[in-house]
Amino acid sequence: METKIFDVKKMNNEFLEEAYVYGVETAQRDIEAAQKDIRIAADVIKGGGLVAFPTETVYGLGADAFNADAVKDVYKAKGRPSDNPMIVHIARASDMGQLTTTISADVVKLADSFWPGPLTMVLPKKDDVPKTTTGGLDTVAIRLPDDPVAIELIRMSETPIAAPSANLSGKPSPTKAEHVIADLDGIINVILVGNDSRVGIESTVLDLTADQPVVLRPGIITPDQIEAVIGKKVAVAGNTAMADTDEAPKAPGMKYKHYSPEAEMLVVEGQRNKVENEIQRLKKLNEGLGRKVGVILFEEQAFIEAAHDFFAKLRELDGQDVDLILAGALSDRDAVGFAVMNRMMKSAGYNIVKV
Ligand code: TXA
Ligand code: MG
Repeated sequence: METKIFDVKKMNNEFLEEAYVYGVETAQRDIEAAQKDIRIAADVIKGGGLVAFPTETVYGLGADAFNADAVKDVYKAKGRPSDNPMIVHIARASDMGQLTTTISADVVKLADSFWPGPLTMVLPKKDDVPKTTTGGLDTVAIRLPDDPVAIELIRMSETPIAAPSANLSGKPSPTKAEHVIADLDGIINVILVGNDSRVGIESTVLDLTADQPVVLRPGIITPDQIEAVIGKKVAVAGNTAMADTDEAPKAPGMKYKHYSPEAEMLVVEGQRNKVENEIQRLKKLNEGLGRKVGVILFEEQAFIEAAHDFFAKLRELDGQDVDLILAGALSDRDAVGFAVMNRMMKSAGYNIVKV
């Protein structure tokens, strides 16, 4: 398949803000050109095709959420098990009504506080949302992304867009258009090239179907922030190796090996200076055995930066053909640190040493 690759960066806000530098008319023309390309992509969605698009978290691979065949093609393109449900993306909060009938006061408050943004709400689904989209579940995960290209695409498609991350299943999530092109060029219809993802890890997934809300997947919107909005205690699913249990996972995505780099990966956890020393020791040891070693060590308290860089770093090291990645653990007492550790532990296949 020939994949159309459109550069639509000029839809972005910074560009609008800078428009006065080179003239509003030029800016307007560029935006219209980008909109024309997004219109072509929207027509592909309407016709049952697949479009990769930027969001503030990671790039998504989208299909019409109401078209079960198109959604099946997403699973196929990614090589993803089909019981793993997708997040359905909407362009305005009022579109939630197409997907769920259960819009409680809490849901309204959360949408009002965090949308557009990296919060996904799991709610009972309406009957006409295909089970293919929800991986066979009676619930649907809904998100309004904070990216002008994504919003324009959904709006022009005139349908909610089901979209997992736009990577081949098992690869690190894509935070740059080049990652999407590396994985999906020739496999899907259109790739919309926007800015690098601002957040860098996927949205917080919050299950609102029981009395107590549960964070199924941690993200940069934290349980504290959610509690402050709804005035209720929020439970958090642990960063445990779900793959090791036979239990039916609440967020089915959690049971698969995820985000793996090609290289073997080891997480080193402990006091900062001990971690640094152990990483240096293991690096020398492995290099002495002729192995190429990559290191991921973020500043100790730089959780947001770590979230932003983590997946890109994995891909960068894979690109350098390293044999072993040594990664320093972040403190999971910080909620964003916890969210990054959730990804880091999965990438490493829960391979960890404590020092
Ligand atoms: O930031 C994001 O959420 C990105 C961008 C593209 O929006 N999307 C994303 O999608 O990460 P995906 O498919 O890679 O992850 C979806 C997660 C999985 O862990 C899945 O199990 C969970 O959300 N999920 C989806 N629908 C669910 C449902 N009905 N109940 C429980 N978990 C659900
Ligand atoms: Mg994913």
